[in-house]
Amino acid sequence: MIDVLLGLQWGDEGKGKIVDFLASQYDIIARFQGGPNAGHTLYLKGEKVVLHTIPSGVFQQNCLNLIGNGVVIDPVTLSKEIDKILPLCPDLLRRLFVSQKAHLILPTHRALDAASEQAKGADKIGSTLKGIGPAYMDKTGRNGLRVGDILSPNFKEKYNKLTQKHVQMLRQYGGTPIEWEQWEQPFFEAVERMRFLQIVNAEYWLEGHLKNGKKILAEGAQGSMLDIDFGTYPFVTSSNTIAAGVCSGLGVAPSRVGDVYGITKAYCTRVGGGPFPTELEDATGERLRAAGHEFGATTGRPRRCGWIDLVALRYAVMLSGVTKLIVTKTDVMDGFETLQAATEYKVNGVNTNEMPFDVCEAHIEPLYSSFKGWETPISECKTFDELPQAFKDYSKFIETYLGTKISHISNGTGRDQLIVVP
Ligand code: GDP
Ligand code: IMO
Ligand code: MG
Repeated sequence: MIDVLLGLQWGDEGKGKIVDFLASQYDIIARFQGGPNAGHTLYLKGEKVVLHTIPSGVFQQNCLNLIGNGVVIDPVTLSKEIDKILPLCPDLLRRLFVSQKAHLILPTHRALDAASEQAKGADKIGSTLKGIGPAYMDKTGRNGLRVGDILSPNFKEKYNKLTQKHVQMLRQYGGTPIEWEQWEQPFFEAVERMRFLQIVNAEYWLEGHLKNGKKILAEGAQGSMLDIDFGTYPFVTSSNTIAAGVCSGLGVAPSRVGDVYGITKAYCTRVGGGPFPTELEDATGERLRAAGHEFGATTGRPRRCGWIDLVALRYAVMLSGVTKLIVTKTDVMDGFETLQAATEYKVNGVNTNEMPFDVCEAHIEPLYSSFKGWETPISECKTFDELPQAFKDYSKFIETYLGTKISHISNGTGRDQLIVVP
């Protein structure tokens, strides 16, 4: 069976920490989409580590880690990440596998990302500028280069052909020229290094492990509301972040999928542009940002903060068929006298509990239910019973609204700060 773990909001729900924790129960952790736009934070013996392309199972000794075909890889970022992780995890390269069908992010993809954002002006997506959109465009446009291509003798030829096309596109964008040529040498050095990784025919590799009864956890990046089809389009990323992305991003059949862990913060954040109905652009939002240290793990940008949005969450739970809910950053709410949760939207004057199509243009007013805060530190609690009654009431309401049971409650950054709900 292959279980899935994914974010239910706009990313940064704490996927890295939870995968690192759950990895002890799995044989393989597999990333199925996204790329170095992801920043998954975990703590190893108190030291903070941020992973971008490498799956978050690397710090569990017995776990193999796969970068699946649905991922887009920047060889330079991957190479730097390997250098950073190797001292902490000397057998990393023995346990790391890469699909030969994963697509490559070229220097010109990064330049195109920047040029596209520049051209959009005030309407920019707020991309991480890692080249994600242009790399996926070349994948679906049937022009992309894949990991397997780096083993081919005419890789350079293929690279030149695609780059020439990009140069023409960059000319059309105009704007401030981007000196991407300086990124070429590090790119080729990193590609050279990638040749020595374990590049596999990943769908057969996974099938073999499944047949041998191995347990696999698919690790999502970004969040459901950033999904290319169902997110707040066009303010989304360029891949399917929901559970459906697992089958196409790893080459496994839907019948193989078991549990789907969905992660949400006890509140809500978003980094970059786009609609965010429950955003708090006031002192309360500021307080959440400070208490939750809400600054991007990849770009360092301050994250926008707001109350939990149950309308959006229920949509995400539905899209992925979440069977187990994980609520993170509950300790961040410790000091709040009152908490709010959006349970309905008023869209252009009409009440609804569905995500509207024109989420970017409609006037959305979230309607809230209020809850008494617990106003006591909970990060030392080890069991559900120890949690204050106000917390239990809040979590019960979320469970009932979403129709899904909470399996874990995270109450701190540490690996052990995770309460298993009986
Ligand atoms: P990811 O992209 O989903 O892996 O999440 P990020 O790593 O980008 O952001 C989550 C941040 O919250 C990280 O800094 C984590 O260390 C931190 N974090 C995760 N769980 C908790 C929690 O329960 N409480 C607190 N205070 N911080 C947490
Ligand atoms: P993790 O895996 C939060 C956001 C960007 C931007 C939009 C498009 O750490 O949760 P892209 O670079 O994909 O073209 O950016 O998506 N975004 C994320 N926000 N967490 C992430 O990943 C994100 N990856 C992309 O801020 O708004
Ligand atoms: Mg992140």
